[in-house]
Amino acid sequence: MHILAIETTCDETAAAVIAEDRSVLSSAIASQEEVHVRFQGVVPELAARSHLEKITPIIGQAIEEAGIDPVADLEAIAVATEPGLPGSLMVGLAAAKALCVAWRKPLIAINHIQAHVYACQLGRAKSIFPCAGFVVSGGHTNLYHCKSANNWSYLGGTIDDAVGEAFDKVGVMLGLPYPGGPELSRLAEAGDPKAYDLPRPLLSDKSTLNMSFSGLKTAVRYKLVGTGKQDFSQLELDDATRANVAASFQQAAVDVVVGKAMMALEQTGLKRLCVGGGVAANSMLRFRLQEMAAKQAAELIVAPLELCTDNAAMGAIAWEKVESGDYADMDIDIQPGLLRGE
Ligand SMILES: Nc1ncnc2c1ncn2[C@@H]1O[C@H](COP(=O)(O)OP(=O)(O)OP(=O)(O)O)[C@@H](O)[C@H]1O
Ligand SMILES: [Mg+2]
Repeated sequence: MHILAIETTCDETAAAVIAEDRSVLSSAIASQEEVHVRFQGVVPELAARSHLEKITPIIGQAIEEAGIDPVADLEAIAVATEPGLPGSLMVGLAAAKALCVAWRKPLIAINHIQAHVYACQLGRAKSIFPCAGFVVSGGHTNLYHCKSANNWSYLGGTIDDAVGEAFDKVGVMLGLPYPGGPELSRLAEAGDPKAYDLPRPLLSDKSTLNMSFSGLKTAVRYKLVGTGKQDFSQLELDDATRANVAASFQQAAVDVVVGKAMMALEQTGLKRLCVGGGVAANSMLRFRLQEMAAKQAAELIVAPLELCTDNAAMGAIAWEKVESGDYADMDIDIQPGLLRGE
């Protein structure tokens, strides 16, 4: 049997078909990047409308590529109901409910943040639990003690901007297209990470696993334009300066993420760290996490590159809910603001 998983939490419309052994038969994604690029960020209303256009074709594509008969072959239909943009979440949930009624299937509600960590499970025979789970994405930077797939406790996280959001905002300052993270990391390759002295908020505070990235982003702004101007389009930065800013920012952000991941392992005594979310695609972060885990004699699992940013294949976590009988009622609502994902 198979699960159809649906993902519409932010600006990717995605559907996947996943077998019980967690192998992914199909994973279809429609990105909305071109809808939002001129606004340098996601516009919620446009995101919801774009999901509405794409949701049925994407589900159809996932079913067709998997080569299954949905009525005969589906065990359940899973959908991410939390957290995310309200309008976006509603489109996915409405589609999932309608298909459950039409095909007479049970509904499973997925927490999108937990799914980002579960991306680490795909392609592995051995369970990733227990582990320290770390989501580094566009909306979250959260650390969890994951005792099992269904038992998570929040350890700490950002108290302001998410790390991906900081990458994107600094990307705007450097004139990079949205989302700035991937471009910024490419630009950083040519830069000197020591060129600018930037803050690492809360990094040396061992009493907390909380993080902060808003001050780091503002520090970059002050270095570039001082405290007055806001219009980055007027900035005329030479290539060397742009690369140095990108490298210095990336170094500071990665220092904080790696430092807090290390503290989470030390404080929990866990020997496995699973990292997911869009920023986990960052090659410098992957390298530095590997170095840190080796020193801690811990196992590091980072989500496969194609499963770091939003996708529905990580909805494979729904199989854990099938196994524990955790089905959703058909009158379930969305939970947009569940930032800690507990
Ligand atoms: N190579 C990279 N380096 C740094 N950041 C990256 C890289 N690739 C992607 N990102 C960042 O990842 C973020 C998108 O990740 P993701 O799709 O997981 O976030 P989201 O779904 O918007 O947020 P959430 O999952 O918290 O709701 C963006 O901020 C993007 O800039
Ligand atoms: Mg996401």
